[in-house]
Amino acid sequence: MALKKLVAGNWKMNGLSADLAEVKAIADAARGYPRVDVALCVPAVLIERAARAAPGFAIGAQDVHEATSGAHTGCVSAAMLLDAGASLTIVGHSERREAQRESDAEVRAKAEAALVAGLKVILCVGEALDVREAGNAVETVQAQLDASLPHGPGAAAHIPDDLAIAYEPIWAIGTGRIPTIDAIAEMHAALRLRLAAAYGDAGGRVPILYGGSVKASNAAEIFSVPNVDGALVGGASLKAADFMPIVAAAASAT
Ligand code: PGA
Repeated sequence: MALKKLVAGNWKMNGLSADLAEVKAIADAARGYPRVDVALCVPAVLIERAARAAPGFAIGAQDVHEATSGAHTGCVSAAMLLDAGASLTIVGHSERREAQRESDAEVRAKAEAALVAGLKVILCVGEALDVREAGNAVETVQAQLDASLPHGPGAAAHIPDDLAIAYEPIWAIGTGRIPTIDAIAEMHAALRLRLAAAYGDAGGRVPILYGGSVKASNAAEIFSVPNVDGALVGGASLKAADFMPIVAAAASAT
């Protein structure tokens, strides 16, 4: 049976008070698509206001620290995100893996901490262009996934319900380029195998999102690919007018 589709927006470092109207517009419109899970991951300082502007709608963070509290200047814990009104968080986005040099082990620790605290997690993986061109994309991303997946007794109880994977080829993010449909299908099938190896039957029910230049014009084709259970959307999630057609495409594909 196909999984319920999840379409999550990643606002990255965009969003001020003036944009709360857009959060509300997206939340209101999302109610028209009960068969799709819709979420917005906004900057940490906007979470509380976004959650107040859109009661009952899933507001998420874009990162979380793996410790519960303590001497970590500038960082935010899972408990803080929950306290602010977040219900989910992205971990391991390639922009953080690159700019903040986050390792697979750190991403795993963040995912485990978030799940144990009660946040849902979207865990990102994806290859750089040179890896894709060298023909090593599948094995590289599989290894990245293996090393990043949450384990341990506290996390296991949250799988599959609270975990999603986002396959985001780095060269497709914000570039307007996407892999071929066959390449997306190949990667998602390969990741599904690794999820099954890690979690058994539950691994078959962890949604695998595609991310990287998803927009209204390509969403329907992407959602038709086997093992594509939704999308993580950057630029096209900032405005309801761009984002909701992607949600509608997910609803049609369900
Ligand atoms: P994009 O970003 O949709 O703007 O390509 C996706 C992402 O980085 O999550």
